[in-house]
Amino acid sequence: MAKLAVYPGSFDPITLGHVDIIERAALLFDELEVLVVHNPDKAPRFTSAERVQLIKDSLSEAGIKGSNIKVTELSSGLLVDYLRQVDARALLKGFRNNVDLDYELPMAKVNRDLSGIETVFIAADPAYGLVASSLVRQVAELGGPVEKYVSKAVAKALRGSK
Ligand code: PNS
Repeated sequence: MAKLAVYPGSFDPITLGHVDIIERAALLFDELEVLVVHNPDKAPRFTSAERVQLIKDSLSEAGIKGSNIKVTELSSGLLVDYLRQVDARALLKGFRNNVDLDYELPMAKVNRDLSGIETVFIAADPAYGLVASSLVRQVAELGGPVEKYVSKAVAKALRGSK
């Protein structure tokens, strides 16, 4: 059976750091599903449907045609329930530094306790090491250039939704 990994996140919006993780992870698994998840702790800038579209646009802008990559959304419920539903082999997360790991490790433990599904971590390329969606949103909101951190499609959307 094909080995599926699910890469969940808010992706609000997707950055070039996320794009890099997706490109590298797609080489490791038979199938990779990028999953836009509603995080009740965060008030999103973009709707889930907009985030899905921006991910697709960013991947195609980067020339990532991977036929083994799909982009979907999860609007409610536990992530692990969804993972079981789609028979995922692994959860995929990117991390930039120890702050990310401190945030991710408890989730990896709880998700494994609940489902037995392992979280696989990929270290962010240092070139994108300090890029965060929240910072990108803030820079854009204050009229700064964000083209170094996100695709053209995302930069345009951020300007458009000011
Ligand atoms: O990009 P984010 O906001 O850091 O992603 C966090 C996310 C959405 C992956 C996490 O909040 C999540 O998994 N939410 C789904 C609900 C769930 O299963 N929560 C228990 C996590 S242990």
